[in-house]
Amino acid sequence: MNCCVIGLQWGDEGKGKVVDILAEHSDIVVRYNGGANAGHTVVVGDSRFALHILPSGSVRPNTICVIANGVFIDPDVLIEGIETLAKKEITLDDRLLISENAHVVLDYHKKEDQLREESLGKNKLGTTIRGIGPCCADKVGRSYAVRMADLRDLEKLKTKLQTIADYKNKIFAALYNAEPISAGRLFKKCKTYADKLMPFTTDTTKFLHKSIADGKSILFEGAQGSLLDLDHGTFPFVTSSNSSSLGMPAGCGVPAKMVDKFLGVAKAYTTRVGAGPFPTEQDNEIGQYIRDKGGEYGTTTGRPRRCGWFDAVAVSYAITVGAIDCVALMHLDTLTGLKEIKLCKAYKIDGQEITFFPANAAKLSQACPIYETVPCWDEDITQVSDFHDLPASAQDFVCRVEEMTGKPVTIIGVGPERNQTIFR
Ligand code: IMP
Repeated sequence: MNCCVIGLQWGDEGKGKVVDILAEHSDIVVRYNGGANAGHTVVVGDSRFALHILPSGSVRPNTICVIANGVFIDPDVLIEGIETLAKKEITLDDRLLISENAHVVLDYHKKEDQLREESLGKNKLGTTIRGIGPCCADKVGRSYAVRMADLRDLEKLKTKLQTIADYKNKIFAALYNAEPISAGRLFKKCKTYADKLMPFTTDTTKFLHKSIADGKSILFEGAQGSLLDLDHGTFPFVTSSNSSSLGMPAGCGVPAKMVDKFLGVAKAYTTRVGAGPFPTEQDNEIGQYIRDKGGEYGTTTGRPRRCGWFDAVAVSYAITVGAIDCVALMHLDTLTGLKEIKLCKAYKIDGQEITFFPANAAKLSQACPIYETVPCWDEDITQVSDFHDLPASAQDFVCRVEEMTGKPVTIIGVGPERNQTIFR
């Protein structure tokens, strides 16, 4: 069985935990989009792992981990991730494969990300400053891109880095009056990257197709959420990759028809980091309650996340665009203790009621949510393992999510640990 796990909101839905759980039944876990902007948290006993580029399956000693062509690889972050796991005696030596076609995020990408955001002032996108947008732009522009395969031929790379530095330095000076970058320093770092990462670097598309032919089970781990998709999200407040399930085939070279199930992950409420419209946002004590109780601070940047009610219009859109089969509803325990819960079932825009999500920031920012209010519960649900042992109002809430989205909720998260999960 091949399964793909996709975020149905604006990221941070709890995909790391879901992938970690499903990885137990998978031979291979594949990351295929995003880069160090992602932060997938996996909690195993007393250890908490924040994985940025490594697949969430990497904490399981027998799982093969693939970083496919669609990932923007920041080698510093990847090497740190590998070394952090090694300190916990989790080795990736013979089970990590990195695509030779993946693009490399270098220091100037991060610098460009930061300079651009600063220059935009109040119009900034609120990126994670991990260099994803500039690296993606170089990928699309082609002439100044660096891929993992380029680290194999260091002599050729040296010349290329000089050309890139000359080009970037003109931009940095003219647009931002910024310090130049040093091609020599970049090259030195690239030599270290080559030493440490070349042993893992290969043709991952070939490997994945062979694995499928051999009957291996593969778990595809999406990063960010569908609403941050470059083409289908709330543009321009999106990330620079296709983070809905539509990005999976291009991101790893495996067609969607080879995937048996697309599992969408949503939280029982909504969060967003960075700028952009968020119709159900609660910039008040309810939002603060959710933020504190759910630990809603960025895994990558530490920024407080914006919090709000569950938005069935947005989630249904992500389900439709992504052909999602079933839903994992995470953080149900975070809602415990609220007076009541709201679910957004439609928007009003220009006096008209709509239920199809407008994935366009200008239109979405005019959306006024229409809510249904349901009762909450006070009981501690963090140790519940059977759906029928949940308080009636928690069960009803889950059923309402199913009715509003039209998809079964097959996994429910009631806490950060692996065993704080209800399977239906
Ligand atoms: P970038 O991906 O760093 O360019 O940031 C673009 C937008 O996507 C910003 O609003 C970020 O906060 C958001 N974003 C990027 N990665 C994640 C993620 O993993 N979780 C949540 N939001 C993200």
